[in-house]
Amino acid sequence: MKSRIKELAKKYAPEFISIRQHLHAHPELSYVEFETSKFIQAKLKEFGIEYEIKATTGIVGVIKGKNPSKKIIALRADMDALPIQEENVIDYKSKNDGVMHACGHDVHTTCLLGAAKILNELKNEWEGTVKLIFQPGEEKNPGGASYMIKEGVLENPKPSAIFAMHVHPGLPTGKLSFRSGKVMASADEIYITINGKGGHAASPHLCIDPILIASHLIISLQQIISRNANPLNPTVFSITSIHAGATTNIIPNQVKLMGTFRAMDEEWRKKAHELITKNATELVQSMGGEIELKIDVGYPTVYNNEALNTQAISAAAEFMGSENIQETEIRMGAEDFGYYAQLIPGCFYRVGVMNKEKGFVAGVHTSKFDVDEDAIETGIGMMAWFGSSINS
Ligand code: NI
Repeated sequence: MKSRIKELAKKYAPEFISIRQHLHAHPELSYVEFETSKFIQAKLKEFGIEYEIKATTGIVGVIKGKNPSKKIIALRADMDALPIQEENVIDYKSKNDGVMHACGHDVHTTCLLGAAKILNELKNEWEGTVKLIFQPGEEKNPGGASYMIKEGVLENPKPSAIFAMHVHPGLPTGKLSFRSGKVMASADEIYITINGKGGHAASPHLCIDPILIASHLIISLQQIISRNANPLNPTVFSITSIHAGATTNIIPNQVKLMGTFRAMDEEWRKKAHELITKNATELVQSMGGEIELKIDVGYPTVYNNEALNTQAISAAAEFMGSENIQETEIRMGAEDFGYYAQLIPGCFYRVGVMNKEKGFVAGVHTSKFDVDEDAIETGIGMMAWFGSSINS
């Protein structure tokens, strides 16, 4: 089975590189991936794979191997792009102004399509069922994964494990990286409006100065987080935007703040939300102001199930050679894969796409991001191997 998958991944690589280039040239923003969805559906039809639509643009395909109820493995790809103007000089450059596949979701979708073609072709040679999940909106709250789950993607039949790859521009092509346990952070957005009382800057005693309140609040919140978070437990709190006032001789009425809160522990996350709300409310009120505070709860932490990841790491080593498998670092970025991995054992792993000689070194979410397409053969093969070989 392993050598059959390798053979087919190599054989089909050119076809899927052109699929990736098509997707790259036609990126669509979160939740409006209509053309991308149609394209994926057409490919599944071409391969002879049954599918249904979920969450408007999402797609769930099913491939049954021998003994289909023996085990059910889900493989997931995201398909949305980012609001970035591409600056690469390539013939498959984005044709959609201001929209770019700058996070590699074109590659993820391509690799899942490639794995689907191979698994379908070899369906008499492996056991169980594979669910193919093409989800919308990974880049935007509340996350396409949450809609897919609401629409029952993890039911009937319920998978016993879910896998997703992510391109890694810091890892050379041909290498993969894994990690058990916590891998990515939760991410919540914080919106604060402080209402004071504006007036002539020469008469501060007649005003309630919201800028002074905001100044205290920013420092106070930073201290509340740093003094309550366990230092062994990674946390980020940052105020990332502050808007108020227009000139030198007026105290404004209002200050608007935005920020981000990230954590690696769901219990601490809940506690921190309470601390932020309580501290901000009390501090602003004590200085005579009024506060509107909203915490837009985003993606949960991504937790890679230990037993599944131990199994995945040895399957990957068997497929790629252990010299090509590394441990991935923890990151404070977020991924809506966390929603799936809260409900069933998950494995979120990285596929190297860096090639210094070919100049593929730019980071994700930048206007110069691109991948070494030799990674597509690896990505396809690995997904197909997980789909067919994992016994969980
Ligand atoms: Ni991404």
